[in-house]
Amino acid sequence: MRLAVVLLFLATISAICHTDGYIEQVTQQIHLLRPRSGAAGYRLKDVDCLSWRLAVETNNVRNWKLVPEECEQYVGHYMLGKQYRKDCEIVAHSAIEYAKSLTLVGDGKDIWIFDIDETTLSNLPYYARSDVQFGALPYNDTKFNEWVAEGAAPPVPGSLPLYQTLLPLGFKIVFLTGTAERFKDIRISNLKAAGYHTWEKLILKGEADQGTSALVYKSKKRTELVDSGYRILGNLGDQWSDILGDNLGNRTFKVPDPMYYIS
Ligand SMILES: *[C@@H]1O[C@H](CO)[C@@H](O)[C@H](O)[C@H]1NC(C)=O
Ligand SMILES: *[C@@H]1O[C@H](CO)[C@@H](O)[C@H](O)[C@H]1NC(C)=O
Repeated sequence: MRLAVVLLFLATISAICHTDGYIEQVTQQIHLLRPRSGAAGYRLKDVDCLSWRLAVETNNVRNWKLVPEECEQYVGHYMLGKQYRKDCEIVAHSAIEYAKSLTLVGDGKDIWIFDIDETTLSNLPYYARSDVQFGALPYNDTKFNEWVAEGAAPPVPGSLPLYQTLLPLGFKIVFLTGTAERFKDIRISNLKAAGYHTWEKLILKGEADQGTSALVYKSKKRTELVDSGYRILGNLGDQWSDILGDNLGNRTFKVPDPMYYIS
């Protein structure tokens, strides 16, 4: 025992003395392991887009307005490729495991909250357009609303199977979205077309809440739900403003979204 401690001590001293050489050696090894091309096959000069995306997903980078120009290709490849789908599916998987582990009261008050855009319905066909560039070009409200009015958004990967699993388990579904109230009818038909056929509540942003941040608005609506006796057991969103604030629910889940940030 004592010998081991002494050896460890000597090894530590020797490591400290050789720190520079050691770090150099490790760095070389790391570089050898690093893929030669940049993210999604593109070499990136100044921004490491994977690091940027990770920082965005973990809410370390906040209040960003645009996808960095250097990362448009990267984000496009990510969103259209397998990785985004896999990342969404693992979220749904964890949510399903959690949902199945619960014992519900079964009085119709056990709810699961879904945000809509990029959580339930995907605007990827819109974001992939050359005049939108996966969020690398400035957001245009008029243009985006024209797309919403088409009611053609497909389901987000993983979210529909999650929804389909929650219903027979006895969860009631609440859709809570920042979409304006005037899009209610088209949103309903879009939800149904995408496979979401039933829900307890569909909460859209009314006139009175226009101008309030998503975080404040969603906290307020969740508090209203809790005050009227609902138990929020799960909460799924693509924005941190969906899963921060008051009455978040017993567990939150974050779907990836490197295309835009809503505070
Ligand atoms: C926003 O989109 C609308 C509709 O496509 C277009 O008419 C308008 O010029 C765009 N605005 C900007 C600032 O690009
Ligand atoms: C949800 O959280 C509340 C408050 O912490 C707790 O009392 C309740 O038991 C939790 N429900 C479940 C099903 O875990």
